[in-house]
Amino acid sequence: MQPAPVICGIGTSLPSRVVTNDDLAAELDTSDEWISTRTGIRERRIADPGTATGDLARAAGEGALKSAGDASVDMVVLATTTPDHRCPATAPDVAQRLGLTGVPAWDLSAVCSGFLYGLACASSFIRAGTAERVLLIGADTYSTILDPNDRATRAIFGDGAGAVVLRAGSPAEDGAVSSVNLGSDGTLRDAILVEGGGSRSPFPPGEVPGEGRYFTMRGKTVFRHAVDRMSEASRTAAESAGWDPSDIDCLVPHQANARIIQAVADRLGLPVERCASNIERLGNTAAASIPLALADAAGSGRLRTGDRVLLTAFGGGATWGAAALTWPDVAPMAG
Ligand code: COA
Repeated sequence: MQPAPVICGIGTSLPSRVVTNDDLAAELDTSDEWISTRTGIRERRIADPGTATGDLARAAGEGALKSAGDASVDMVVLATTTPDHRCPATAPDVAQRLGLTGVPAWDLSAVCSGFLYGLACASSFIRAGTAERVLLIGADTYSTILDPNDRATRAIFGDGAGAVVLRAGSPAEDGAVSSVNLGSDGTLRDAILVEGGGSRSPFPPGEVPGEGRYFTMRGKTVFRHAVDRMSEASRTAAESAGWDPSDIDCLVPHQANARIIQAVADRLGLPVERCASNIERLGNTAAASIPLALADAAGSGRLRTGDRVLLTAFGGGATWGAAALTWPDVAPMAG
């Protein structure tokens, strides 16, 4: 029988610095009232200068390996759009810092859908028998690419990392991932964009990079497409798992905006109490958002062993996806 990917460990890492809406209002033309009513966010964690994505990724990876009770894996996948360097990938460095030198390790870029793209990738290697155990990390430090003067994006994003260990198991086990579906639409490539620094608009040698180094977003467009795509992908993933949307015990959506989460839940006919959310405390942590929300839900008892869980995300590209799984008996560990 073909092996199924089974989650057997989960870890997290967050910077200690808390930035509240009032802190932002002290330097930008915004307010706690505006941010919390439009997004549901009250505070976020921001990495101190000198802390890179790879540092958070390593710590979350360490937590996940401890939670799994076995530090051996034969593959490391790091979903991020804020790697330590443009070249090379950050994953090999994270792997060696975790004592995993020699295993295949690479970065995967799908913006806020990165964790789900990584889950599909890790699951495929396990199903094919090419890997037995995979460490999948979602990590981002968006604070390093945000325009300090842009109140819209600074209100939304925070930094963090979350990780899971997947092992080869059986489809009937708690923790088994039963379906993942993904999609993309490149016509939306400029809805979420860092214009400069790539091969299309390289930074001129010797010059200080200008505005093009910053993340920009067409908020309303992203909002509309996020609701449509996350709802459709969730329905498809539920159907592939043989579930009706009403069978979902816990929807764990990408934590982009509390109103997006509410709208997706409404379209699926789910009461909002069946959604996991930590957006109030962490904001949007991009590729880290789903594993961080899973860890919070598991740690608080919101997620119980055997629960039918549906994950869904939308991100730049545009990219999106959804996955169905059952929840295993694992304790999240902070790295
Ligand atoms: N504080 C105060 N005003 C703000 C603000 C802030 N933090 N951010 C934006 N505004 C202002 C805008 O400048 C604009 O002002 P103007 O009318 O004078 O130009 C006004 O609010 C309306 O802006 P708009 O972008 O239309 O607001 P919105 O209601 O769409 O909310 C977002 C903005 C960003 C909260 C919302 O679009 C959103 O959440 N989009 C999805 C973003 C997302 O999830 N991204 C990641 C997906 S992976």
